[in-house]
Amino acid sequence: MAEAHDPIGILDSGVGGLSVLREIRKLLPYEDFLYYADSANCPYGIRSPEEIRKLTQRVATILLERGAKALVIACNTASTHSVAYLRQLWLQIPIVGMVPAVKPAAGYTRNGVVGVLATEATSRAPALQDVIERFAGDKKVLISAPPGLVELVESGNTESAETCAILKTHLDPLVAQGVDALVLGCTHFPFLRPLIESIYGDKLLVIDSGEAVARQTCRILENNGLLNLKATSGTLTIFTSGNSQQVGVITQKLLKMDSVPAVKFIIKS
Ligand code: DGL
Repeated sequence: MAEAHDPIGILDSGVGGLSVLREIRKLLPYEDFLYYADSANCPYGIRSPEEIRKLTQRVATILLERGAKALVIACNTASTHSVAYLRQLWLQIPIVGMVPAVKPAAGYTRNGVVGVLATEATSRAPALQDVIERFAGDKKVLISAPPGLVELVESGNTESAETCAILKTHLDPLVAQGVDALVLGCTHFPFLRPLIESIYGDKLLVIDSGEAVARQTCRILENNGLLNLKATSGTLTIFTSGNSQQVGVITQKLLKMDSVPAVKFIIKS
């Protein structure tokens, strides 16, 4: 039986889900976190739905075996292809999933044109089509799945001239077609947000799901009586199937960990 003092398990194909973890920790600073970066199998976005489901189930199982009281699938690709399946598998475990934030974007666009930046697999997911039909049926939605962006974030390359040029190659055509609200439909991409905003300024409103997922995590834990009520800062333990040293360095960079002294940082394979 899960207990309130147990940790929350968060998973992603790599370091992208740290953009969601960052938001959850703001709302839930007393919770302990287990984060799994499946870096050896990253990217998930080029894989088949079946493969994505198997990989996600494997990582979720590891986190549950390590005592997670709830799971956050901090990856749009894993979530859109596996969350329903995982919920059937573990009926008693609260599982938070995510879909690209098309709904708020549909509310924000002034031109009636929304852009979605996602992985190849998310761009083909029925769950994405479903949110588009439900919340942006009267808008034009342009989906772009640029190869290579996830890898740039995985290597910590979030600010270079090379990254800037690649972003422009993929985003200029969207902006030219009237996109004024851009959904970051992959959890790696919020780490590119400062660069995107510096390129397009007011022309583009950039939206991601991190905060909404954090609020949902909070609600679900509360509803299940699983909020950790201790008043000491929570810990963060990071697991990776990849190169732990590299994941450690990139994590510290992306989370600006010098300014987060309460974090207990452990890398294990
Ligand atoms: N971070 C992931 C997402 O939100 C996927 C990246 C990948 O492995 O392709 O979609």
